[in-house]
Amino acid sequence: MKGLILSGGTGSRLRPITHTGPKQLVPVANKPVIEYAVEDLKEAGITEIGVVLGHKGREEIQEHLGDGSKYGVDITYIIQGNPLGLAHAAGTARDFVGDDDFVMYLGDNILNQGISELVDSFETGDYGAGIALQRVDDPQAFGIADVDVDGNVTQLIEKPDDPPTDLALIGIYVFSPAIFNAIERLEPSWRGEVEITDAIQLLLNEGHNIDSHTVEGWWKDTGKPEDILHANRLVLQDFDASVDGTVEGGAEISGPVELAASATIEDGAVVRGPVSIDAEATIETGTYLGPYTSVGSSCRIAGVHIENTVVVGESEITCDEKIVDSLIGRATTIGGADELLPEGRRLVVGENSDLKF
Ligand code: G1P
Repeated sequence: MKGLILSGGTGSRLRPITHTGPKQLVPVANKPVIEYAVEDLKEAGITEIGVVLGHKGREEIQEHLGDGSKYGVDITYIIQGNPLGLAHAAGTARDFVGDDDFVMYLGDNILNQGISELVDSFETGDYGAGIALQRVDDPQAFGIADVDVDGNVTQLIEKPDDPPTDLALIGIYVFSPAIFNAIERLEPSWRGEVEITDAIQLLLNEGHNIDSHTVEGWWKDTGKPEDILHANRLVLQDFDASVDGTVEGGAEISGPVELAASATIEDGAVVRGPVSIDAEATIETGTYLGPYTSVGSSCRIAGVHIENTVVVGESEITCDEKIVDSLIGRATTIGGADELLPEGRRLVVGENSDLKF
């Protein structure tokens, strides 16, 4: 069994964060989203992994994951070029996959229970494909499966107007190499993409059995800023925190706090977990860091109140303000302007930013 992580796509819904880097490297609880996929594959015993790259951010992803040895896996990069759909992305990996079965994992998805059950279930039967499903409130936004009373898949439809069920295909699939033959015969859908959902339907039409597995734990597609914040909350709510950094005498910390070895919480700062603080970050006197906040490496946070927020890294936040529900990109400065005249907010804001005062 091999693994395939799809990391093409433009990340348009995560702008401006994705103007400067791929969405798969946006951190959730201080770990880039794509690393969760690598770890899940490794945990399922899959160490030969292909990473399919688009045009955007391909150098950054290669630089970050390297040859995979730091994760105990072997990574091969496959260039998709233009993002023409998930089935197109899978099709570019045909030589890499060869005659093996493989798990296809969308590089911006996170789930908390791993993929071993899905892989084991696929391996115990004679299946053309295995799909992971979860009930959703907005089935029109996903690929949807219909299943019979015994749980056998009877139909798959991409983003249906009139969904037959609320069982969404989440972004993790297991395939036999038969999928490549189906992909070759597909036409683009109404949205101009060759859909993996249509390829699985073709396998079904041609008599292959499709395994389905309902995922009970949480799952998140991190396409939008609010999804990143939600995924951050979900990971932080059951993470194993450990304080390895420096907590000065008068600092007040409570709840689960992960503090990297070279990070500091200064005297007079208050940190209420769950909170994750990465390497070289400093939480200075007068700061309140509230639940569900992740502070990236080399950040300086001083005198501000922050809650339910992801600060990506190398940022300096020193304003006397309350910041909530925010996603703050790399190397951002947010300072006070109190002493300056004329009074008012002073902004240098990139394209596609979203500010609320
Ligand atoms: C894609 C798939 C869809 C699936 C979803 C899961 O949708 O086409 O079937 O339910 O991923 O995240 P997209 O993210 O391209 O809209």
